[in-house]
This record gives sequence, structure tokens and C-alpha cells, in this order.
Amino acid sequence: MLRSHTCGELSAEHLGEEVRLCGWVQRNRDLGGMTFVDLRDRYGITQLAFNMEARPELCAAARKLGREFVIEVQGTVTERESKNPNLPTGDIEIRVLQLKVLNASETPPFTIESHSDGGEELRMKYRYLDLRRPPLQQHMELRHKTALAVRNFLSGEGFLEIETPFLIKSTPEGARDFVVPSSMHPGQAYALPQSPQTFKQLLMVGGYDRYFQIVRCFRDEDLRADRQPEFTQIDCEMAFVEREDILKTFEALTRHIFKAVRGIELPEFKRLAYDEAMQRFGSDKPDLRFGMELNNLSQQAKNGKFTIFESAQSIQAIVVPAAAEWTRKQIDAWTDWVKRPQIGASGMVWLKCQADGSFKSSVDKFYAEEELASMAQTAGAGPGDLMLFLSGDTARVQKQLGQLRLAIAESLGLRNPDEFCPLWVLDFPMLEFDEEAGRWFAMHHPFTSPYTDDLQKVHSDPGAIRANAYDLVLNGNEIAGGSIRIHDREIQAKVFDLLGFTQQEAEQQFGFLLNAFRYGAPPHGGIAFGFDRLCALLGGSETIRDFIAFPKNNAGRDLMIDAPSPLAPQQWNELGLKTDA
Ligand code: AMO
Repeated sequence: MLRSHTCGELSAEHLGEEVRLCGWVQRNRDLGGMTFVDLRDRYGITQLAFNMEARPELCAAARKLGREFVIEVQGTVTERESKNPNLPTGDIEIRVLQLKVLNASETPPFTIESHSDGGEELRMKYRYLDLRRPPLQQHMELRHKTALAVRNFLSGEGFLEIETPFLIKSTPEGARDFVVPSSMHPGQAYALPQSPQTFKQLLMVGGYDRYFQIVRCFRDEDLRADRQPEFTQIDCEMAFVEREDILKTFEALTRHIFKAVRGIELPEFKRLAYDEAMQRFGSDKPDLRFGMELNNLSQQAKNGKFTIFESAQSIQAIVVPAAAEWTRKQIDAWTDWVKRPQIGASGMVWLKCQADGSFKSSVDKFYAEEELASMAQTAGAGPGDLMLFLSGDTARVQKQLGQLRLAIAESLGLRNPDEFCPLWVLDFPMLEFDEEAGRWFAMHHPFTSPYTDDLQKVHSDPGAIRANAYDLVLNGNEIAGGSIRIHDREIQAKVFDLLGFTQQEAEQQFGFLLNAFRYGAPPHGGIAFGFDRLCALLGGSETIRDFIAFPKNNAGRDLMIDAPSPLAPQQWNELGLKTDA
């Protein structure tokens, strides 16, 4: 070992000891008689002291050390004159006796400190430098600890970690596939798995009744802060279980992770049916850290003479506590916010419940004071509160108001990253109608079991068929999703039919699964956690990029290695693909 200790572990306990340290030069201060160098590694920072009078050559060499030089030093642990209570090593410094430059460094393009002066793009391009910063190093450690906690827990529960292939055939999880053309089979391609869904079901048929895998998944879809084209799942499946067994097992896993990684005891896991979540929170992944639930005021609000409300299918409001004092300008800003195309509301009505018990509203002239009072009462708004109304098609209003609820809570600081409110959302609709494609799609995936009682609605009301599917939601984020699967060949064939697959298409795409179901498929179900999302939330963030060592940017590019990139014409030829170039 080139070092006897790390840069994070020396303290007054080590006074007088001779030590060897290695690391990167964070800072170099020349005070004339003394030169101080901050030496950093992933464990911390230790101050090195060079005395001009005692060792002029060494001190002169130290003065030449630039930022990010890699050095090895030998010296004695001594007490600092001016201690730094903000550093764990702040009581000591190393009186350096020997200095060796292991490697020089060009001046880095941004400062390598907790708060860097580099913009995101620059830091992505030089990710290996960004990774030296303490927050990133903490995130990587947290990720490691989380993976370890998952493996320990699941292994203790009898789950086996089994790998499944990456070069496969398309699995429908709702995104586009990344495809990998094969030079051995011109004109043919593998698809990268959007998830190991079909393989884990085949493992159940294979008799491995408790499977898990921390596994990379690939989806060619629009990216956001919580989505990457390649991301990691904790993928799990169990045989001979019902929904309740799965919810219990993975609630226990989630509790174990929070305890092991953060020392946090999670509160009760609430449960909400999808319909109720939409009605109360306007979202299938509600953030329960704060109230401001949606209130359906359709009946009362239609009584006035306000034509927009009269013609609306639904009128709903949220109550912003203690916001009656908001200025016109503040309310206008939120009105503009809901009118942006991303939200799509045509306008917003407000009602102030004033401290003196009177009411003031943007639609005063259409309603008597008692009518305003009655709406406030229904919504539970008291003196000092502000009500914000949106109207229109029910599903849209719920969604828009749900988004407004989140944004206002964010602006009021009600979304505390250190508070955790988990819940299960249950009973999702089985199908979703896609207006553009003019057909039904599986809301979860085509292997999800419908509630058998609902199957009679196949022809009359397909949208009302509920699936035995569940999502685990934490603070407004979907951190896991799963379902009880279909294990009966006939029902699976029926569902493919409902989803618009011809028998031939179903056979061609999923024949292997339908075949497997001929040979004794046990009842089974499972779940997959978004591992990156889980790590981000554990670390108090919603940006998963910060918890992935080498992420892609928002356009799906890796700026460091510059990928994706063009292929040489010869490579296209080898793959049997044509290029215009
Ligand atoms: P689903 O598609 O819901 O289910 O994915 C499971 C979890 O993976 C996370 N996730 C993502 N994280 C980062 N970037 C993405 N692009 C991304 N897409 C999804 C989410 C999500 O909850 N095979 C099923 C699981 C099952 O039924 O067992 C599946 O993949 O946190």
C-alpha cells in the first residue's frame, strides 16, 4: 500500500504518529513561511503543512503543486494551531517529511468541491472529475449500500439472484426497444430488454419460486429527471402467492432498505385504489406529505351564472392554506402556470376566504355570498385560506389540479425530502385507450392478470376492467410496480386478443411464453423497483442522474464518450444495413 491511512480518518488520537497519505491536491495556500495543502480522497480532506524554514526544498516543491495533482506524502500527525471544527480531521495536520508527485494534472475545467462552479454539461463531459466531488461519492456509496441491503434481505427470504439475457426479443413495457443488429444474421436484430418480464415468468415455470435480480433495463423513450434510457431495476418474482403476499414481502424489503441505509423507520404504508387516488390527488402517484386534496364542487359551482362552469363536466378546487393574502400578481402567475401547454388549463378561478369571514373571488358577480361560503365549507376552507378552481373534462381537471397541487406545495416548501410517505396504489385499470392508435393498450403490461369478475365487461366496457396490479409510491414518485400474472394459457390468449394481437402475432411474439404455460405454470406474481429512483429518494433527491455513475443527459447522450455516434460504412455493411452516407 502506498498509504497507511486515508485522508478522512486521522484525528487527535493519532498525534505524533508517522503516516503516509495519498490523494489529490484540492487547494494550495502559500503563506510565506508556511505552505498548506489540502489533500483529498473519497474519505475526506487532510491538511498538509510544509515549513519553509525547516525544509525549504520540500516547501518549494509543495508550492508548485497544482490542483488535482496526485501525490504521496509521509509525515507526522501534529496538532493544528487554528483548528477547523467543520472538518472531521480539523484538529490535526501532517508535518510533511517526504513528498512524491505520483502524477501531475492539468487545471481541471471546474472546481472539484461540494458546490462546483461547473455547469451540468461540462461536468457530464468530465464525469470522472465530477465523480471526485463529495456529493457524488456519497451517492455512489449510498447506491452500493442500497444494493447490499437488497441482496441481504432478499437472500435471507430465500430469493435467488439469477441473471437473464440482454440480447433478446422485444418485451412490451410501453416504450420503444433499443435494437442490436446481428452481423451473423443479416437483416435480423436482437432487442435489449425493457425489463426481464417474460424471463422471470419463465423462471417461475422453471421452478425457481423466489427470484430477484438487480438488472439493467433499456427503454428508448422520452427522458425526464426520473427517467434514463438505461436504468436499473430490482426485479422480483414469486410463485404460489397472492397479491397480499407480495405487498407484505416488498413492504418489508422497503422498510429494511430505509432502516439499513438511512436509519429511518418508515411510517404505515397506506393503500389507495387507483380511482380514489385520482379523485383525491389527481395523480396515480400521490405525494402524501401534505394535504391540499382535490374537492369536487361540480354541483355547487354550477348553480351560479358563470357560463364556463355551467358548461363544464367537472369543477374542482384545492385549498391553499393561509394563502388568502396572496396578491393579484401571485395568483396571476399561477394562472399563467396552469395555462402553459404542459398543463393545458384554459383559466383558473380563485376564492379568498378572508380573515374577517367574508369572501372575495374572481367570479364574485356570479355567486351570492352564501354560495361562496357553502363551497368553502364543502372544501373545508377556513378564514385565511385560498381556493383555486379548475373546470372541464373530469379526468383532465383532476390531472391539472394534481399538478398544481404539487407545484404549489413545492413552492411553499411542503415537500420535505427527509420525510417519507409510502403508499400502495391498487386496482389499476387493465386497459388504456390510445386515441391516436384507436385501440386499447395494457396499462401495465399484457401479462397482468385481470380481476376475473371484471372480465365479463370485455365487450361492454373494457375500460372498467381492473387489473390485479399495484404500484409502490413514495413522495409522489412511482418507485415500484408489479402485478399478479396470468398463468393460464387461455386467459393469456384472450388478453392478447383484447389488445389487438392476431393469433398469429401473439404466437410469433410470445409463442415461447404461451408454450411454457402448457407445462404446468404455477400461479405467480412480482414487482420491479426502479433502483435509481429509490437511491435518489434515499439521498433526498428526485434526479436519478446524480445517483448513476455514468448517466446519459436529457437528450439520451453520453457527453463524455460521445454516444450515440455514427458507424463507419463498413460496419453498416457488416450488419447488412444500408446507410445514406
Ligand atoms: P415498470 O415499467 O413499472 O414495470 O418499471 C418498474 C419501475 O422501474 C422504474 N422505471 C424507470 N426508472 C428510470 N428510468 C426509466 N426509464 C424507468 N422506467 C421505469 C420505475 C418503475 O416503477 N416488468 C414490470 C415490473 C413487473 O410487473 O414486475 C416493469 O418493468 O420506478
